[in-house]
Amino acid sequence: MAKPIFVLNGPNLNMLGTREPAVYGSETLDDVRARCVTRAKALGLPVDFRQSNLEGELVGWIQEARTKAQGIIVNAGAYTHTSIAILDALQAAELPVVEVHLSNIFRRDEFRQHSFVSLAAAGVICGLGAKGYELALEAMADLVKRRTKA
Ligand code: DQA
Repeated sequence: MAKPIFVLNGPNLNMLGTREPAVYGSETLDDVRARCVTRAKALGLPVDFRQSNLEGELVGWIQEARTKAQGIIVNAGAYTHTSIAILDALQAAELPVVEVHLSNIFRRDEFRQHSFVSLAAAGVICGLGAKGYELALEAMADLVKRRTKA
């Protein structure tokens, strides 16, 4: 059995659909999960989709990924801009990481334009809404293939 790709979502992403739809779109987190499951299936990748409002829980999941996953797709929400703990965990995981944001963080407040997560990410997809998660899975499929070949 192939290991899954962990798709980890941070704080307030459980509010998708009702939270500032002009910024984050009208799809719920369950809709995003469904997109990921369908896309991952087409790519032949198992996916494990999770959300937490707690920094420590996200760190724990990233630590778990080190042995239980083959890659991490992460939208760390506001922790993107604040959490060295999440960065450290991602670096310790030694796995391909793709960072996702629904909104274009570079068109928003200045404090959103810096990402600690990016320091551990192979690439970043932002501003394309829920579609970004599907694109992240596509990128991850390539990253994982490259790794197994190397
Ligand atoms: C977000 C962008 C972050 O700045 C914000 O704190 C979020 C969501 C996004 O998906 O656009 O919670 O990560």
